[in-house]
Amino acid sequence: MADDTTDTKSSNQMWGGRFASGPDAIMEEINASIGFDKKLFAQDIRGSIAHATMLAHQGIISADDKDKIVHGLNTILSEIESGNFEFSRQLEDIHMNVEARLATLIGPAAGRLHTARSRNDQVALDFRLWVKEELQKTEQMLTGLIAAFLDRAEEHAESVMPGFTHLQTAQPVTFGHHCMAYVEMFGRDRARVRHAIEHLDESPIGAAALAGTGYPIDRHMTAKALGFREPTRNSIDTVSDRDFAIEFLSIAAIAGMHLSRLAEEIVIWSTPQFGFVRLSDAFSTGSSIMPQKKNPDAAELVRAKTGRINGSLVALLTIMKGLPLAYSKDMQEDKEQVFDAAESLELAIAAMTGMVRDMTVNTARMKAAAGSGYSTATDLADWLVREASLPFRDAHHVTGRAVALAESKGCDLAELPLSDLQAIHADITDKVYDVLTVEASVASRKSFGGTAPSEVRRQIAFWRARN
Ligand code: ARG
Repeated sequence: MADDTTDTKSSNQMWGGRFASGPDAIMEEINASIGFDKKLFAQDIRGSIAHATMLAHQGIISADDKDKIVHGLNTILSEIESGNFEFSRQLEDIHMNVEARLATLIGPAAGRLHTARSRNDQVALDFRLWVKEELQKTEQMLTGLIAAFLDRAEEHAESVMPGFTHLQTAQPVTFGHHCMAYVEMFGRDRARVRHAIEHLDESPIGAAALAGTGYPIDRHMTAKALGFREPTRNSIDTVSDRDFAIEFLSIAAIAGMHLSRLAEEIVIWSTPQFGFVRLSDAFSTGSSIMPQKKNPDAAELVRAKTGRINGSLVALLTIMKGLPLAYSKDMQEDKEQVFDAAESLELAIAAMTGMVRDMTVNTARMKAAAGSGYSTATDLADWLVREASLPFRDAHHVTGRAVALAESKGCDLAELPLSDLQAIHADITDKVYDVLTVEASVASRKSFGGTAPSEVRRQIAFWRARN
C-alpha cells in the first residue's frame, strides 16, 4: 500500500480540508458507493430542491442562491436522465457527485446547499423515498396478480381437482378455491406493503448528522414538499434507522415465499404425470437435447429468486444488528440488498402474473385425479354419521374398511357394489352413492370459506370489491 510520502493524489474536494493526501486506491474502492447508489439520483435531487427551497423560505440562504441551486439541480437531473453525466468514484457517492457537478455549473452558491444537513440525513431521505416508491409499485403489481387469480377462480369456480395434504390426495376441492387461497396470501402481502408505507411515511431530512441543527429550519415544510405525512421525531433514530429497508425485505421475503410455493405447484402440475396445467409457450422453454420437453423455467427461477431475497433480508439484519447509534458506514451496505431484492421481487410477481393468466387448465385431468385416491372417503364417513347416526370415530373405521376393500378390488369407493358396502355396515343404502361423486362432495362443503362453488363465488365477490 502506498504511504503518504509517495501519495500524490489530492484529498477529497468535499471533505478533504483536514487531509494532506488522498485515499489509497483500496480505500477509494471500499469506500465508494456511487456504483450502486447512483440509482438514487432522482430522489437525491428532489430532496435537495426541497431542502434549498426551505432554506430560502427560512432566510437561511438567499432567494437568488436558491434559484441558482434549483436550476442547477434540474440541469443535473436531465444530464443524468439523458446519460450525459460522468459519475466519479473519487466523489464516493451520489450525494457528492451531484453537489460537485452543481459547483461546476453554478459556482459558489452550490456550497450553500449543504447548510443544515448532512449526508446522514440525506441518504436516509433518498433511500426512504426510493423504498416508498418501490412499495407503491409492489402494491400495484400484487393487485395485478390478485386480479389474474380472481379471473381464473371465477372461470373455475366449479372445476374439481384433488385437494392435497402431505401432497397426498385428501379431499376434492375446486380449482377456483385453490386459486382463492393464493388471493388470500397475496392479499396479506399487499396489506403488509400498505402498512409499511404508513410506517416509513416520515421525513428524515433536517436530522442533520445526528443531533439536529442550530439553523432555523422548517422540517414540516420539507416533509410536506416531499410527500411525507410528517417529519421524524428523533434525530438520532432518524440517521441510524433502516427499519424501512428491513421491513421491505421482510415483506419481500414473505411474498417471495408465497410466490415460490406457487412456483413449486406449477412445476408439479405441469409435469406429464400430473398434467393439471399446460404453460403457455410464452412462459416456458424447450430443451436443447430433448425435443419433447417443455420446461417451467420461469417458475423454477421464481423459486430460486426467493432464496436470493431471503439472503438479502438476513444480510441487512446482520449488517445492522451490532451497530451503535447513530450512523455507521456499515449502513452503506443496505442499498444493494434492497435493490437486488426489489428487482427479484418485481420479476417474480410479473412472471407469476403472466403464468397464471396464460396457463391452460386441464379440467378433465384434474377431475379424473380428484376421483382417484379415495378422495370421497370423508364423505362416506360423514354420510354414516348423518344417515346412520354413527359416531364419527366409528364411521371413520367403517369407511377405512370400505377403502381397504376397494383397494383390494382395485376399484373406487363408488364402484363397490351395495352388497359389499352392506357387508361392512348393514345400514348403508344406495343413497350413499349420491355423496361418493366428487361433484357432490365439493358442493356439500358450504361452510364459510369452504370449497363449494357457492362459497368460492362469495370469496371472489369479497375480493373483487377490494381489488
Ligand atoms: N454513501 C453513504 C451511505 O450510503 C452516505 C452517507 C455517508 N455519511 C458519512 N458520514 N460518511 O450511507
